[in-house]
Amino acid sequence: MSLVRLVYASRSRLVEADRRVELARILETARLRNAERHITGFLMATPGGFAQVLEGEAGSIAETYGRIMVDPRHGDLRLLAQDAIAHPQFTGWAMAFAEHSETTQFIFGLYGVSPEAEIFEQPLDVLLDLAGELANARA
Ligand SMILES: Cc1cc2nc3c(=O)[nH]c(=O)nc-3n(C[C@H](O)[C@H](O)[C@H](O)COP(=O)(O)O)c2cc1C
Repeated sequence: MSLVRLVYASRSRLVEADRRVELARILETARLRNAERHITGFLMATPGGFAQVLEGEAGSIAETYGRIMVDPRHGDLRLLAQDAIAHPQFTGWAMAFAEHSETTQFIFGLYGVSPEAEIFEQPLDVLLDLAGELANARA
C-alpha cells in the first residue's frame, strides 16, 4: 500500500450567515467519507480560508481530492504538496479540526496566521508546523 500526504489551501466561499452550519456539515461529511477510506488528517479554518492535510492510500486520496476540488465552497484551491510518507501523522483523526478563535489565536499567531495574514497565503512548511502544533495542543 502506498501512503501519501496531500496538502492544499483555499479561500473560503462560505457566507458568514451560514458559516457555522456549513462548517458542521463539511466536518460531518469529511469524517464519514474519510473513515470509510481510512483517511486521516487535519482541517484548519480562518475567517477567509482553509488549509487541509489529508493522509491515506494514494488512490483514496486522489479520489477524495477530486471531490474537494469541485466543491463550490472553495475558491482559488492551491495544491501545495502530494508526497509519499512512511507513517500518517494524524492517526486516529478521520479529520481533526481547528479554527481561528479566541482560544486558538495564540497558536495561529505564533505561525503568522492572523485575520490580516490569511491561512490560504501561507507556505507549506508553515501549514504543516501549524497543524502539528494544533494537534499537540488538543492531544
Ligand atoms: C473545507 C472542506 C474540507 C473538506 N474535506 C473533506 C474531506 O476531508 N473528505 C471528504 O470526503 N470530503 C471533504 N469535503 C467535502 C467534499 O468537498 C464533498 O462535498 C464531499 O466529499 C461530497 O461527498 P458526497 O458526494 O458523497 O456527498 C470538504 C469540503 C470542504 C469545503
